[in-house]
Amino acid sequence: MRRRIVGLAVGLVFVFALIIDLLHFYRESGHVVRLSTDRLRAIVVTAAAAIDGDAHAELNGCLDRRCPNYEKLSRYLKTVQDANGLATEIYTLQKVGIRTRFIIRTNQDWEIGLPYKLRPEMEPVFDRGEVVTTGVYGDMFGQWVSAYAPIRDSLGRVVALLEADYRVQQVLDQLWRELLEFLLFTWVGLTVTFLLARRLSTRLAQPLQELTAAVDAAAAGDNERELPKDAPDEIGRLARHFGVMREAIQRARMNERLAVVGQMAGSLVHDLRGPIQVISGNAELLPGEEEPQERAKMATRIVEQGRRMEAMCQDVLEFTRGRHTLAFSSFAASSLVDDVLADLAPVAARRAVRLARGPTSEQQVSGDADKLRRVLYNLGKNAIEAVGSGKTVELGCSVEAERWKLTVRDEGPGIPPEVAERLFQPFATHGKSGGTGLGLAIVKSVADAHGGSVRFETAAGSGTTFSVELPRAPAAPSPKPAAG
Ligand SMILES: Nc1ncnc2c1ncn2[C@@H]1O[C@H](COP(=O)(O)OP(=O)(O)OP(=O)(O)O)[C@@H](O)[C@H]1O
Ligand SMILES: [Mg+2]
Repeated sequence: MRRRIVGLAVGLVFVFALIIDLLHFYRESGHVVRLSTDRLRAIVVTAAAAIDGDAHAELNGCLDRRCPNYEKLSRYLKTVQDANGLATEIYTLQKVGIRTRFIIRTNQDWEIGLPYKLRPEMEPVFDRGEVVTTGVYGDMFGQWVSAYAPIRDSLGRVVALLEADYRVQQVLDQLWRELLEFLLFTWVGLTVTFLLARRLSTRLAQPLQELTAAVDAAAAGDNERELPKDAPDEIGRLARHFGVMREAIQRARMNERLAVVGQMAGSLVHDLRGPIQVISGNAELLPGEEEPQERAKMATRIVEQGRRMEAMCQDVLEFTRGRHTLAFSSFAASSLVDDVLADLAPVAARRAVRLARGPTSEQQVSGDADKLRRVLYNLGKNAIEAVGSGKTVELGCSVEAERWKLTVRDEGPGIPPEVAERLFQPFATHGKSGGTGLGLAIVKSVADAHGGSVRFETAAGSGTTFSVELPRAPAAPSPKPAAG
């Protein structure tokens, strides 16, 4: 595209130059003919004045070059012809009645004495001794301009006429040649300019395109894209600075991720203590338990807690890798609420918080049940931690045609605005001694992975409601960042 525009511009400049040239030619051609005529006039006037008129008069009636003075005069005229670069010969004419005849010819000696026509413009020269220049006239040999000057003897009488001519075509041909040369130079100049401009723009544009591609790739998370090498000054410097910046960002990201891993490892160890205690307690009691039903319950608890630990480890792994793998299944929305109410019961009991089952729907929905249970658990736990004893936390769900929703409502103090701004960022914790600040980050990343969203409404002193809205059918798989 860029090349086409440059090419078009060069073409337009050339056409413009051509038009200017043609106009110039038509204006100049008349001017040049005039200039040529003036020059011819100066030549004949000067040459005629320098000729010895008496010597010339002696040649009247002479029929060949052996006449006295012929050689001398004709050599002189030949010198004038050569000195002025005249392509056609100079000659002198004598008037004989209604005709003239050649006296001296600088080129064709054999025509000496032969008759020649008397052009009307010659008469004032013979009659009154005037100097005359013709306009452009044509004959069988071409287009001409001529100048005539009188040759006078020592008494001032006109004894002959000196004529010099220009072939007009020659003048115009010269002009054309100059025009074509000019056009050729214009064309060569423009072509060279075009090639240079193209080379220069490629030299500038290519590294710029590579740099732009690398910046776009970095914005999309690909930091491996090669940066332009050997780019000219500013672009090269920009590319180098961008490379340094990209490395710094990569290092910072790595450090950030390592810090997250460290913090998550801490929280994981903390969270794993609960299931480990359940497993070891049940495992200790199991050998002494004789009641088969109790034994089965203990074994089930051990297996469940083992699964929970596995799921927690998996979560940490996925979070650090920045993606979620979802295991979709179909289940009744209310079953999720019931499961989480049961899980949260001991937490609520410890804080004397009333746990309630809000409106629920039995309709089938689909999603990763384990992860969504964790979502509801995190929201419920936050609510229990926020409200004082004696207050209520309500978990519920609703199902519509396309979407369904999990809701956690509490009667707590509400979320302060300074916390609300960065609520879903990892490690955004406020007012808790043991909080990691990962709970809501996980909630958001799970909701995002399902193609859903998290929202909350809060009012200082009267409580907060979190709702997670999800599509009823599995969303098209799209790995999303875990948090932040
Ligand atoms: N229902 C709520 N009412 C009031 N504040 C809340 C509520 N839910 C969350 N918050 C505030 O949001 C902060 C972030 O919650 P988040 O679950 O991400 O981390 P955390 O609860 O502090 O730590 P963790 O979940 O790892 O124990 C909490 O520290 C708390 O200050
Ligand atoms: Mg929390």
